[in-house]
Amino acid sequence: MKLKWGMIGGGEGSQIGPAHRLGAGLDGLFDFAAGAMDHRAEAGIDYGRRLGLGDRAYGSWQDMLAGEQARDDRVDLVTVATPNSTHYEITKAFLEAGFHVLCEKPMTMSVEEGEDIVRTAQATGRICAVNYGYTGYSLVRHMRAMVARGDLGAIRLVKAEFAHGHHADAADADNPRVRWRYDPAQAGVSAQFADCGIHAMHMASFVTGQEVTKLSADTVSCLPSRVLEDDAMVNFRMDGGAVGRLWTSSVAIGRQHGLGIQVFGEKGGLRWSQEQPNQLYWMPLGGRLQVIERGEGNLSPEADRTSRVTVGHAEGMPLAFANIYKDLAEAIAAQKEGRAMDAAADLYPRAEDGLRSMAAVEAVAASGQQDGIWLDARPPMFR
Ligand code: NAI
Repeated sequence: MKLKWGMIGGGEGSQIGPAHRLGAGLDGLFDFAAGAMDHRAEAGIDYGRRLGLGDRAYGSWQDMLAGEQARDDRVDLVTVATPNSTHYEITKAFLEAGFHVLCEKPMTMSVEEGEDIVRTAQATGRICAVNYGYTGYSLVRHMRAMVARGDLGAIRLVKAEFAHGHHADAADADNPRVRWRYDPAQAGVSAQFADCGIHAMHMASFVTGQEVTKLSADTVSCLPSRVLEDDAMVNFRMDGGAVGRLWTSSVAIGRQHGLGIQVFGEKGGLRWSQEQPNQLYWMPLGGRLQVIERGEGNLSPEADRTSRVTVGHAEGMPLAFANIYKDLAEAIAAQKEGRAMDAAADLYPRAEDGLRSMAAVEAVAASGQQDGIWLDARPPMFR
């Protein structure tokens, strides 16, 4: 089934817009049909027209909402790839108008808004996904499958990192593109954890199949001019008994993207890093260290379904995003056709995951201000 797709934000020169367009377009499952892509109306319309949207290149998301609602061939899925503080309002409006939504992270700025989005998605029966796009990597799906089928036994420890060095230059701290991220008025209660730490924490949940229950955070601003944290070490506990350790930083000079995860169970350990996404390191207890290559034969159905290029060739972030879109196309088509969806595709991150992240963000900020006291990390509606 061919579906229609639209995007809000992701305009010319944006960081994440091109990865969404590549991801949504990869399998021919979505036609890029509509967009309100820039906060400047003229620029958004001009760019949308150059991308082939014609009169469905809108000057604002409100115009797009009205224009698409009035059409019989309205878009099936809307991606919200605008700055963080706008996600809640736009996502809620499109869900209420009956559209499925893929929202960029962080889904909202608060737990309260996050709970409202979850309730809105439930009430409208629309899909609200959140772009924890790195869970689309084939070997991340394989890690999850290995944990789920018991290869590692009970999970004892999970260690997640998202530490880079791109905001380490004190001389650049006042650059407006950097400064807003550490300003509570624009960024909310957390900077680095809300921006990157939530990817790592969500991945810990995705791979282990366990949710975070409580946490203790040590947050610091290594650059004294910053109000919000640029580094955090977070200890957490999970509902299946796993112990979690998470480090996130923006001042780790020499680290590039710096996202990685390790899982240690009673029967073996796994290690994966996003900068070498084609290799998964597996050590069974008492055995030898093995390298599992993405695309090799006889991996899990979840890994086979999401491997996009031949074994040995590099596979990157836009293809991981493409797997989120592939999952969503299957979920939307199944809903339209009134059938059950392919279980191997039922892995896209949900609004519930976006909400859990917001609860973790607020707990990290509060714990960090109180010398690392342990706090409940669950959203009130899931306690
Ligand atoms: P950016 O600043 O590079 O681009 C934002 C785009 O949104 C611009 O084209 C801007 O004109 C447009 N825009 C702003 N307000 C708008 C509005 N009201 N209506 C329509 N368009 C509007 O930002 P970037 O880095 O692309 O980030 C966007 C979002 O994606 C953020 O929420 C960020 O956290 C998230 N992100 C997620 C990543 C992931 O791995 N999942 C990676 C990078 C960013």
